[in-house]
Amino acid sequence: MTDRPEIVFAPLGADLERMSVVLAGRDVALGKRAKELDSDTGGAVLRAVEAADFKGKKKSTAELLAPPQIAASRLLVFGIGKLADLKEKDWVTLGGALAGAISARKAKAASLIAEVTGDSDTKAEMIAALLAFGAALRLYQFSKYQTKKKNNEGDTDPDVLEKLVIHCANPEKARAAFAHFEAVANGVVIARDLVNEPANVLGPVEFAERARELENVGLEVEILDAEQIADLKMGALLAVAQGSIRPARVAIMQWHGAKSKRVKPLAFIGKGVVFDTGGISIKPSSGMEDMKGDMGGAACVVGLMHALAERKANVNAVGIIGLVENMPSGSATRPGDIVTSYSGQTVEVLNTDAEGRLVLGDLISYAQDHFKPRLIIDLATLTGAIMVALGKEYAGLFANDDKLANELLDASSITGEKVWRMPLDKAYDKMIESKNADIKNLGGRWAGACTAAAFIQSFVKDTPWAHIDLAGTAMDAPKSDINPSWGSGWGVRLLDRFVAEKYEK
Ligand code: BES
Ligand code: ZN
Ligand code: MN
Repeated sequence: MTDRPEIVFAPLGADLERMSVVLAGRDVALGKRAKELDSDTGGAVLRAVEAADFKGKKKSTAELLAPPQIAASRLLVFGIGKLADLKEKDWVTLGGALAGAISARKAKAASLIAEVTGDSDTKAEMIAALLAFGAALRLYQFSKYQTKKKNNEGDTDPDVLEKLVIHCANPEKARAAFAHFEAVANGVVIARDLVNEPANVLGPVEFAERARELENVGLEVEILDAEQIADLKMGALLAVAQGSIRPARVAIMQWHGAKSKRVKPLAFIGKGVVFDTGGISIKPSSGMEDMKGDMGGAACVVGLMHALAERKANVNAVGIIGLVENMPSGSATRPGDIVTSYSGQTVEVLNTDAEGRLVLGDLISYAQDHFKPRLIIDLATLTGAIMVALGKEYAGLFANDDKLANELLDASSITGEKVWRMPLDKAYDKMIESKNADIKNLGGRWAGACTAAAFIQSFVKDTPWAHIDLAGTAMDAPKSDINPSWGSGWGVRLLDRFVAEKYEK
């Protein structure tokens, strides 16, 4: 599907590729191998560092072209700043920045000497693995439709990095540490690919087929077709799908990794609106193309389930995604229609563009009925209002349970995917009371992200539940050292870490 360079680990003394990188801490603290290279070159490394006035500041560089006596024809000294300050997420970011610097230099193969000197909280093999993780995230590209192939930095140049060799003291240990992160990186790539894929190619049926592919990593996957969904009486979800000629699907992905199959699963639920025109309450045309990404929640769930299975997580988890297309047509739901959800709760649809909550409501009821999960986390590109509140840096977190909210906040502070807790309140419940049905799908002018969350909460029984509104972060987020892609794959790392830290031990 996507091409990503091969990442391999080698001993510190292994042969260098023509493009090579060494790390330097603050005040140009060099590792042993880098010092060796300096003496091999007759002191050229330190002379270049001095000439460039390089001090080892984070992400600063000094570069030697054609250094004498060594195999590398280009040697980059890359600053990492103060070693003691670097946490896991900083190493990942550095790995991404490094990979960016390497691919900008158009090397086909590169060596990274992952050696540092001084005191660090992070073990040497973990540093190598985290740098590799960051590089894997950065070196993603969605280029399948660019028939005149472009490299990472957008140039039409065939010299795309194909192989990154990470030289480190203990390559076996580093490779073992990387195995976990590689599974997560693969999950992120899957999520990004799904979000980037245009809606003409990725309809509900095609998306379900992609979910089906997770059988290859040992997940149990069940796809409900439109008839089965109708038999289950998911009237809210189907009200969204009925305007499209492309039928709805629900994909259910189960991972049984806990010692006992009977341990109740964690449930992850994703909004998978493959395209959101708004329906009869149609959106303005400007920017509507971005609504191919309105399945970012579902993409995250698929990526997460892949990661859990690939790394054989010691947990039971179920991912459930609702795949629909929100279109206006002669068969579309009208504003004012009243639909009966799977739970029996009736919903007055006042705006057909507030469709994601209809999908999620039915899936949450279904998850509770069928899986009695320990907890539910739903992910959805749900509201423009969350972007008004938090911009594109933070996703909104709503939870009916402080422990669950704090566990997510903890995981977030490790991976650096930021979430901000938002309020649930009876006052918001009041704003979605309907004159004609049990509830309405529209809350009024203010607090749009909060009334959307209140709507979803009305389907939650007594299960710990969190809702993450990733409308701002799943797509078109600012490019970063570890994300060059429009579809960011946001949340896969966060939830993988949440599971690893809190539910596998
Ligand atoms: N998918 C949109 C939310 C969205 C907007 C995601 C922009 C990503 C970028 C959602 O279905 C929607 O249309 N929400 C409406 C709700 C409103 C009609 C109550 C919104 O936010 O405007
Ligand atoms: Zn939507
Ligand atoms: Mn919408």
